Amino acid sequence: MSFAMSSKTSSFVGSVPTNQRQARPLAANRLVVRAGPYDEELIKTAQTIATKGRGLLAMDESNATCGKRLDSIGVENTEDNRRAYRELLVTTPGLGEYISGAILFEETLYQTIRDGKKFTDVLNGQNIVPGIKVDKGLVPMPNSNGESWCQGLDGLAQRTAEYYKQGARFAKWRSVVSIPSGPTSMAVQDCAYGLARYAAICQGSGLVPIVEPEVLLDGDHDIDRTLEVAQEVWAQTFKFLADQKVMFEGILLKPSMVTPGAECPTRASPEQVAAYTLKLLKRRVPPAVPGIMFLSGGQSELEATLNLNAMNQGPNPWHVSFSYARALQNTVLKTWQGEESNWKSAQDALIKRAAANSAAQKGEYDPSKEGSEAGEGMYQKGYTY
Ligand code: 13P
Repeated sequence: MSFAMSSKTSSFVGSVPTNQRQARPLAANRLVVRAGPYDEELIKTAQTIATKGRGLLAMDESNATCGKRLDSIGVENTEDNRRAYRELLVTTPGLGEYISGAILFEETLYQTIRDGKKFTDVLNGQNIVPGIKVDKGLVPMPNSNGESWCQGLDGLAQRTAEYYKQGARFAKWRSVVSIPSGPTSMAVQDCAYGLARYAAICQGSGLVPIVEPEVLLDGDHDIDRTLEVAQEVWAQTFKFLADQKVMFEGILLKPSMVTPGAECPTRASPEQVAAYTLKLLKRRVPPAVPGIMFLSGGQSELEATLNLNAMNQGPNPWHVSFSYARALQNTVLKTWQGEESNWKSAQDALIKRAAANSAAQKGEYDPSKEGSEAGEGMYQKGYTY
């Protein structure tokens, strides 16, 4: 076939001969983005979670991890003890003023508190959106230097549809990137692709996906190295999210803050952490994304709150908030000790941390009233969730 330029074929698309236009449909089809059945609801859920002065309570520790936490206070890791501890958390009076959503482990989604009410009903009654961890955990990545990949895509659409029926309205999938292990482009791409496939599946079931590629604290690298790796991780993540046609208005992010590695001798102030982290986010995250809900990653309760406060000293294009587990629960657990008589003081400890982080979300946190327990570090090398 000859493409000799005639006056007809050299002009604009409108006058391209029919046979050339017919060669286009595949390419054109690839650009079609259809509105999903849950789009409006997803946007509303994401915006509800990202409301001023509120953040997420991550209480989705796997049974093994929850067991380690209970073990640290001498409480046996039974289903009923996990249930009791989580009942303490969700029934804390007034929690919904500071907490907009709670991430549950699958077991909790089907449990009831002692008076027979479902956990999801208790949360809705507190004006807290129930969420669910949907990944199936990390496993070693073959042919890597100790990196891992996140399982759980098989059968995910059936599970997310079922979780929606049970009352969940958002989801979490945590994949990790290890700086001292590379990271290899193989691991970074796998992490990003998995998150994007998960996010697309969740949106198809009406769950707002929290996208969490955690850059682990482990290592002796400096803060510049963390920024470099995080930029690559988020570049890949947004590339794959876009490829999977994920609606950015209906997702939330759960990044790690940009800090030096846990074993780096040079530490960073909250102002430095905030400057680096906001630089990363502004370079990589479109303003269509409603909320950025940081993980605490082993920082002390105090550090996590101070860093969040520093990030909210000026206007940001997105809601910048928290989705902490350890940095909300550490003092609560230690106060509870598995004793009924400590129930109320443990709930007071939760409200205190939630209120501190709520203030930090608004850039109004005052650390002068913090006790020494809030400054205790919680970093554990190779922590699994
Ligand atoms: P941490 O705040 O303890 O890092 O946990 C948050 C979380 O949900 C990790 O996936």
